[in-house]
Amino acid sequence: MSTSPPSSSLFSLDALFDNPLFAGGIGLASLGAAAAFARKGAIAALGAARRRLLVNVEISKQDPAYPWILAWLSQPRETPGFIASRLTRIHNLSVTTTTSSKGPNVNGPTNAHFFLQPGYGRHIVKFGSAYIAVNREKHSTANMNTGEPHEIVQMTTLWSHRHAFEAIFGEAHRLAAKANEGKTIVYSARGMEWAPLGDPRKKRPLGSVILDEGVKDNIVGDVKDFLSRQKWYVDRGIPYRRGYLLFGPPGSGKSSFIQALAGELDFAVAMINLSEMGMTDDKLAYLLTKLPKRSLLLLEDADAAFVNRRQRDSDGYSGASVTFSGLLNALDGVAAGEERIAFLTTNYIDRLDPALIRPGRVDMMLRIGEATRFQAAQMWDRFYGDVDQDGSGKERFLQRLDELGLLGKDKDGNPSNRHTSTAAIQGLFLFNKNDMQGAIDMSEGLIPRKFEAEDMTPDGAIKTAA
Ligand SMILES: Nc1ncnc2c1ncn2[C@@H]1O[C@H](COP(=O)(O)OP(=O)(O)O)[C@@H](O)[C@H]1O
Ligand SMILES: [Mg+2]
Repeated sequence: MSTSPPSSSLFSLDALFDNPLFAGGIGLASLGAAAAFARKGAIAALGAARRRLLVNVEISKQDPAYPWILAWLSQPRETPGFIASRLTRIHNLSVTTTTSSKGPNVNGPTNAHFFLQPGYGRHIVKFGSAYIAVNREKHSTANMNTGEPHEIVQMTTLWSHRHAFEAIFGEAHRLAAKANEGKTIVYSARGMEWAPLGDPRKKRPLGSVILDEGVKDNIVGDVKDFLSRQKWYVDRGIPYRRGYLLFGPPGSGKSSFIQALAGELDFAVAMINLSEMGMTDDKLAYLLTKLPKRSLLLLEDADAAFVNRRQRDSDGYSGASVTFSGLLNALDGVAAGEERIAFLTTNYIDRLDPALIRPGRVDMMLRIGEATRFQAAQMWDRFYGDVDQDGSGKERFLQRLDELGLLGKDKDGNPSNRHTSTAAIQGLFLFNKNDMQGAIDMSEGLIPRKFEAEDMTPDGAIKTAA
């Protein structure tokens, strides 16, 4: 007879589980595993719930709606209830400052305008009955063109409140539109991007720019006609573009007219000065592909693309580096935007190349010249119409201009080559507000002053009277 020992194998499972120490260990381990599993499950479930129960909207800085949303967020809003109002107060603000000066070369003081908006980080806002978590983040990556870091605003709310977003975007857009109502936005190139130049300006009434008889109606009529013919162009596969070239002496109202026209059409102005420092062919071409919507393209000093590069000045400025072919490429190369209304201006028409005058590049060319009798009379009416009811002051003024030979004929009726500019007339009238006799008496000041060569010293300085 043989009796087997109670347990001969070291690895008998029964024996193992009979061992209280081991069984306890297993129990703990499995409990831990179960807890870990449950935790993972819970996180996954939470993630799933988040995805299913929450809605997320992301707006990047590149999107036109980005500044609207920031402006909307920074609006003061009443939140009823103690907790809600503490919860939704925005504690982190950042500031955007815009400054405006009269022009790029004015050294005088500038106006600053401060605009507070929610800073980076998380905020909670309440919209109707919906709570919305807002997260404004700066990314570590940057826009290659401007060097500015990428930025987003993320808004999260409950799925059941998702319709709040449509309302918010609608409201933010209305707010932005209202802020710009009656204004003309002027964009200029900042780095490789278009950026508003200062604050939107008050629209300039078309009637305040006085061009020679019929000129204004001619251009305005043509632009309006073009705007109504998009389908015609699309149906025929022709790029929907039109170009205008305004030329003539400085101070004749070319730039003012384009600004007023933009106001009339409710367009913005996207302005590039071709003679400005740092403007290159590449940059011009790139900017033209990204023209802001509903804007008139304004290319000032178009002649800059035609003059030989200047010698480097001592400060390293070597003049504009836009070339003629660069300008043509930007205007009608493959990359040029499909839709465009372009205005080119120049004071030196003789420097331009006839190749510019092609459909889609320049379809219409107009001279905006020295002040004519018609313009002088109209400007008089705008300034003194209410005090000069019978028009006798106007007659005297025009007579005086004739005497001075400023309207194309000298006082004996022979052609004169002396002219004045509308800008000079405006200056004269501004100086003599409400004083029409003063304006007539000072008319001599309208004669353009020339610095004759004999007034100059050999080094180019103007001699002062001894
Ligand atoms: N035809 C005009 N009608 C009204 N204002 C004018 C006219 N021409 C010039 N001005 C005034 O003179 C100034 C310079 O005009 P601007 O449009 O810059 O001339 P341009 O672009 O032809 O050099 C502006 O203040 C403008 O209001
Ligand atoms: Mg101008």
